[in-house]
Amino acid sequence: MTRKKVLVTGGAGFIGGNFVQYMVNKYPQYDIYNLDLLTYAGDLTKHRDIELNDNYYFVKADIADRETIISIFEKEKFNYIIHFAAESHVDRSITEPEIFVRTNVLGTQVLLDVAKQFEITKFVHVSTDEVYGELDFDPTTFFTEETPLQPNSPYSASKASSDLLVRAYHETFGLPVNITRCSNNYGPFHFPEKLIPLTISRVLNAQKVPVYGDGKNIRDWLHVFDHCTAIDLVLHEGENGEVYNVGGHNERTNLDVVKTIISALGKSEDLIEFVQDRLGHDKRYAIDSNKLQKLGWKPTYTFETGIAQTIKWYLDHKEWWEQIISGDYQNYFERQYYL
Ligand code: NAD
Ligand code: TYD
Repeated sequence: MTRKKVLVTGGAGFIGGNFVQYMVNKYPQYDIYNLDLLTYAGDLTKHRDIELNDNYYFVKADIADRETIISIFEKEKFNYIIHFAAESHVDRSITEPEIFVRTNVLGTQVLLDVAKQFEITKFVHVSTDEVYGELDFDPTTFFTEETPLQPNSPYSASKASSDLLVRAYHETFGLPVNITRCSNNYGPFHFPEKLIPLTISRVLNAQKVPVYGDGKNIRDWLHVFDHCTAIDLVLHEGENGEVYNVGGHNERTNLDVVKTIISALGKSEDLIEFVQDRLGHDKRYAIDSNKLQKLGWKPTYTFETGIAQTIKWYLDHKEWWEQIISGDYQNYFERQYYL
């Protein structure tokens, strides 16, 4: 059997990084190329255990740099593209929206153009449930793949725009694509500016945990490992042109999440500090993933088992998140690849 070449964009980030490790270990017959610009969110230290594997490659590049991306595709004949690279933090999109349009919209368009030009066999676009906007607090309502797109933040608007481009390249050019829309991920190697790792790291450092507004906003938490198995399934079994929602019915208020972590670490709830709410803060996200389950996907973690595993991981990998908070990880690429 000929080897398959898989291009993973954003493979130095949180979810892309977990996916790269999952694929390198699961498919020794695939060559996994991690293409990443190494922005503040990109960290290669997480790949120390796989970076010497024969089927792992790293390429530093900007997805919005058309010339460079074309030259990479001229060298390597990729079969699959799994596209994670993005600006991903809602709070940053409120203060700096422009980079979100450049990376998430223009970067995706460059990748779609090369995917078409070089005739790849599958383009999986990793998107978010945030493109659907927000739900109210009625617990019987969920986002389905048919829910209209109504993004509320510059982040989700840029992701929705990229989803529409992906759809258009399928409809217009017949590009073999899938779009996945997942709920909030958590798990190992989550960058400590997001709620769960922020809470764990701050509680362990006896620092206050900022909870936006009244803490009643609801997110539907998905363990990153379950997200990886979902993308693997969509890559191999997804019907071209289809959208698949990914979520495991793990709805929690932000306050519940923070209290769960504080209690698991045996600390006091006095660490909670209610702070000014996020602008345009979406009330609730909740996913209906029946379509993906019919394709054969089943999550392995509940929120209880997943959060316990994640807290343990952060306790066991203090050196990882401490160098992220200190910024030291940003020198790793130079140390590793240039010195
Ligand atoms: P992340 O911010 O941790 O990682 C993003 C990666 O993309 C980083 O390694 C960064 O260096 C890279 N990158 C940024 N700009 C780039 C560019 N111009 N060229 C090449 N690489 C670039 O993000 P994440 O949390 O791992 O999310 C991955 C994908 O999943 C994103 O598309 C995001 O929208 C989507 N998503 C995330 C969540 C979540 O809970 N984290 C939920 C739903 C969907
Ligand atoms: P976040 O992890 O930024 O993910 P997203 O905005 O993509 O859902 O935030 C998750 C929830 O936690 C969201 O409702 C905002 C809230 N939040 C806080 O209350 N305090 C914080 O310090 C952060 C980062 C988030």
